[in-house]
Amino acid sequence: MTQKLDAKVALITGSGRGIGRAIALKLASEGARIVVNDLDAEPAQETVQAIRDAGGQAVACIGSVAAPDFADRFIATAIDTYQGLDIIVNNAGYTWDNVIQKMSDEQWVAMLDVHLTAPFRILRAAQPVIRRLSKADTDAGHRVVRKVVNISSVAGLFGNAGQANYATAKAGIVGMTQTLAKEWGRMNVTVNCVAFGFIQTRLTTSAAQHATAHIDGRDIKVGINPDLLAAMERSIPLGRGGTPDEAAGAVYLLCIPESDYVSGHTLLLWAASAPSIKPFQLDASALSASAMPSMNFQPLWCTRNPLPWACTSQRSPWAWASAAMNCAKLAADRSTASPRLAAIWW
Ligand SMILES: NC(=O)c1ccc[n+]([C@@H]2O[C@H](COP(=O)([O-])OP(=O)(O)OC[C@H]3O[C@@H](n4cnc5c(N)ncnc54)[C@H](O)[C@@H]3O)[C@@H](O)[C@H]2O)c1
Repeated sequence: MTQKLDAKVALITGSGRGIGRAIALKLASEGARIVVNDLDAEPAQETVQAIRDAGGQAVACIGSVAAPDFADRFIATAIDTYQGLDIIVNNAGYTWDNVIQKMSDEQWVAMLDVHLTAPFRILRAAQPVIRRLSKADTDAGHRVVRKVVNISSVAGLFGNAGQANYATAKAGIVGMTQTLAKEWGRMNVTVNCVAFGFIQTRLTTSAAQHATAHIDGRDIKVGINPDLLAAMERSIPLGRGGTPDEAAGAVYLLCIPESDYVSGHTLLLWAASAPSIKPFQLDASALSASAMPSMNFQPLWCTRNPLPWACTSQRSPWAWASAAMNCAKLAADRSTASPRLAAIWW
C-alpha cells in the first residue's frame, strides 16, 4: 500500500527527544526518509535506530543548529544521502527563562539563535536546492509540493511572563513563516507554523524533578513549578497537556498531500476553543503562595465584587496559571475561602 509520504526526504531538527522525535517516527511511519538532527549524539542515534528497526530509513546529522556552519551541513546530508529535500521541520529548541530585568544578553541571544537564526539559516541554505529540484520537477511535467513546518509556541502568539527572549523568537518565526509562504509559493512550497501550548516533554516536566539540559556548554534548568503545571492543566479545555505523539500529529497534517493548499498558516495546538468567557471556581488550597512565580504578573482588582478576582486577557495557559496564583494569593491576603478566576478571551 502506498504511504502518504512515500520516499519523501524530511529534515527534522531536535529530533533526538520529545516532539521532534515523535515527528521523525510519525513521518517515517508514512514512508519518509528522515535526516535526524540533535545536539546530543546518543538520542539522535537512538531515533535513527528506532526508525530503522521499524523498517524505515534515517540518517543522523549531529550538532547544534545554532552553529554557523550547521545549515549547509544539514542540507548536504539530505542531498548526499537521499538526493532529495521535501520537508523541513524547524523544531530544535529549549527555554532559558527570566524576567526582563534579570535576563542577560547571553540568555536573550541564545534564544534568538536557536529559535530564529537557526531556522533562517536552514531555510536560506535550502532555497537554492529547492529551486533546482522544483525546476527539474516542472521541466519533467511533475507538480511536487514541498513543505516547511516551523515550530512556535503560545508564548510567541500571546506572550508569557518570564520569557521575553523565547516569546520574541517564537513570535519572529511566525513572521518568517508568513514571509516565506509568499516568497516560496512559486516553487510549490507550503510554509506553515505549529504553535504548541503545553506538551509533556523534558521541557515541561515538573521542576520537582530538578532536570537540567546541557546545551552549548551550559547546564540549563528545565521544568515548570508543579503548582503552576497543575493550574495550567486545569486551564486547558481537555484538562491535560498534549503528548509528543499528539503534537507530531499536527505537524504531520501539514506535511501530507491533503494540506497542499494550506500555506502561511499558524496552527495553534492548545486544545482550546473559540473566544469565549469562561469563569470557573478555583481550588485555592491547590495553589500555595510559594508557587507564585517571580514574574510580577499584575492582577486586576474587581472592586464591585467582595471576592478577589484575577483577570487575564491572554489566551496563554501560562497567563492563566499566573492569574490563578495571583487569585489564590489575593484570597489568602483577604482570608477569603472562595476565590474565583475570570478569564476574558478575545
Ligand atoms: N513542550 C512544550 O510544551 C512546547 C510548547 C511550545 C513550543 N515547544 C517547542 O517545541 C520544540 C521541541 O521542544 P520539546 O518540548 O520536544 O523539548 P525537548 O527538550 O523534549 O526536545 C528538544 C530537543 O531539541 C534538542 N536541541 C535543543 N537545542 C538544540 C540545538 N541548539 N541544536 C540541535 N538540537 C537542539 C534537544 O537536545 C532535544 O533533544 C521546541 O522548539 C520548543 O520550543 C514546546
